[in-house]
Amino acid sequence: MATHKLLLLPGDGIGPEVMGEVKRLIDWLNSAGIAKFETDTGLVGGSAYDAHKVSISEGDMAKALAADAIIFGAVGGPKWDAVPYEVRPEAGLLRLRKDLALFANLRPAVCYPALADASSLKRDAIEGLDIVIVRELTGGVYFGEPKTITDLGNGQKRAIDTQVYDTYEIERIGRVAFELARKRKNKVTSMEKRNVMKSGVLWNEVMTAVHKREYPDVTLEHQLADSGGMMLVKWPKQFDVIVTDNLFGDMLSDIAAMLTGSLGMLPSASLGEVDVKSKKRKALYEPVHGSAPDIAGKGLANPIAMISSFGMALRYSFDMGDLADKVDAAIAAVLASGLRTADIKSEGTTAASTTQMGEAILMELQKLH
Ligand code: NAI
Ligand code: MG
Repeated sequence: MATHKLLLLPGDGIGPEVMGEVKRLIDWLNSAGIAKFETDTGLVGGSAYDAHKVSISEGDMAKALAADAIIFGAVGGPKWDAVPYEVRPEAGLLRLRKDLALFANLRPAVCYPALADASSLKRDAIEGLDIVIVRELTGGVYFGEPKTITDLGNGQKRAIDTQVYDTYEIERIGRVAFELARKRKNKVTSMEKRNVMKSGVLWNEVMTAVHKREYPDVTLEHQLADSGGMMLVKWPKQFDVIVTDNLFGDMLSDIAAMLTGSLGMLPSASLGEVDVKSKKRKALYEPVHGSAPDIAGKGLANPIAMISSFGMALRYSFDMGDLADKVDAAIAAVLASGLRTADIKSEGTTAASTTQMGEAILMELQKLH
């Protein structure tokens, strides 16, 4: 059995609390002989600042580069609001994304049947939802140059952001989406605004070419990003994999996420390029939520986002799709049993703690084995 190297970066606030529940799962998988994970732990964000006055140490960066996957909690909190900008907690996460060249951000939106009534959409529209948004993460308007604010001298200022995409950037994010679709319902919807943006014209052209050349077996549809947003809130089940640029992806993935309920439920993966030699890719898995200082240290955090982020690691870094399916099934079973952390519970019921939720998910997983 292959040994997989994991770097755990719990971070700040509820990060260490929810990471504890992933550790519980890893320990069991190791002791039951189902998988072989070698884990190391590092400091990131405020916790790294407190220890070393940095947002992540060079030693931990080296560990991150050597790991098969990074499991990341969350960083930040009011305690570090006044630290110098270069070493603010978020800088650690940004450095990881940049140095590992994590250009593909995967955000699933899945509706667990037991939570269908918590959605802003009608049960009919949301029940059974299972889509993934693939967002380009290292290009586009967030990074394009020029990026300036100029004083025009007449009482006016001019702000410029630049959307830039090269062919190779669109090709590689396209491949991530098509590969993913092949393992799912075999459909990709590419979203851009070719009607008003040159980058949208190129995006459309390159997606069409990659599809024709490398993935003719997958269904490809093109949709303008604005009407795509409307479709997402009207009938999201028409989609399987949505692939889009950094800016549209930021918004569309947040919209899709809220269709299904609490921040405490949402996982994500950020992937780099596949290395030609080792066939491995750099990857970081993290919940969408932050460090939730308002509930930190109280044992109230929902560990499901963190646990399903680990499930994504099993699926996308370690080719353990069957085990990942079981993790998802264990979460669904626990929710179906009525157990709820505070963020997803209904009025008048008592909330489970972080630990109770983690233990219950592990028990269900054990039953599935
Ligand atoms: P947040 O996601 O930490 O919290 C927003 C709300 O959701 C809070 O009421 C919180 O209690 C609740 N919440 C979040 N995760 C939860 C969970 N697992 N279980 C139950 N409830 C949960 O976002 P906020 O408050 O805007 O930011 C707090 C700190 O986190 C800030 O310092 C921010 O910069 C940082 N942050 C870090 C991120 C990261 O590490 N990737 C992402 C977002 C924010
Ligand atoms: Mg966002």
